[in-house]
Amino acid sequence: MMYSGIFDTHAHYDDECFDEDRFELLDEMLASGVSGIINCGCTVKSSETSIAFAEKYSQMYAAVGIHPQNATEESADALQKIEELARHEKVVAIGEIGLDYHYDYTPKDMQTQYFEKQILLAKRLDLPVIVHDREAHQDCVEMLLKHKPRGVMHCFSGSVETAKQLTDIGFYIGLGGSVTFKNAKKPAEVAASIDLDRLLLETDCPYMTPVPFRGRRNNSALIIHTAEKIAELRGITAQEVIDVARGNAKKLFNIK
Ligand code: NI
Repeated sequence: MMYSGIFDTHAHYDDECFDEDRFELLDEMLASGVSGIINCGCTVKSSETSIAFAEKYSQMYAAVGIHPQNATEESADALQKIEELARHEKVVAIGEIGLDYHYDYTPKDMQTQYFEKQILLAKRLDLPVIVHDREAHQDCVEMLLKHKPRGVMHCFSGSVETAKQLTDIGFYIGLGGSVTFKNAKKPAEVAASIDLDRLLLETDCPYMTPVPFRGRRNNSALIIHTAEKIAELRGITAQEVIDVARGNAKKLFNIK
């Protein structure tokens, strides 16, 4: 690969899309251009799997948490289990947590409760949060302004103004494949304008595959296409984008 030091701050390698070749793929990427990956939990089970990956690979880290879409399937003691898992030495964040009004699998009040409790857990454990916000920008931002946790808004899809509100409280903005999508103007506008010291790169793989591979399965190596697009928008090199974003990730997630 022509780039090095890619740090993917948001991946789901526990997804069944990777059942056929998961470890071959991870072995190959981690031996070439990818130097770090955070696998994010959405349920207790996927949080445990994220930790198992982090135990297998020195360059992988885990985030543990209950995703708003999964809250209804979880048992009553799920947050207790997340708290226990969060004490593992390779857990670097509580996530992914947040609000999702696109789907209505989970009632809004339940989503809010899970979101708030997990923010408070993160603050108690001095961990950052990885936040999922889908069609819930206002409520998400209000919650974050209320508690001011450290963290990142992953796969950011809001406006330049919303990004500013978040970076003003020290939040990071996670950008992925959507900055390359021709029908999504906002992520590219945000990529062009945010302070570079607030930028994180991510895949959300297997989803959000950047152009020119849109529609196919995503993986951490494809971050180069997101980095190239951001580089073009900023007038710097893709390697510079990768290096700045890796430095930011290590700082936020307290990785040596
Ligand atoms: Ni995700």
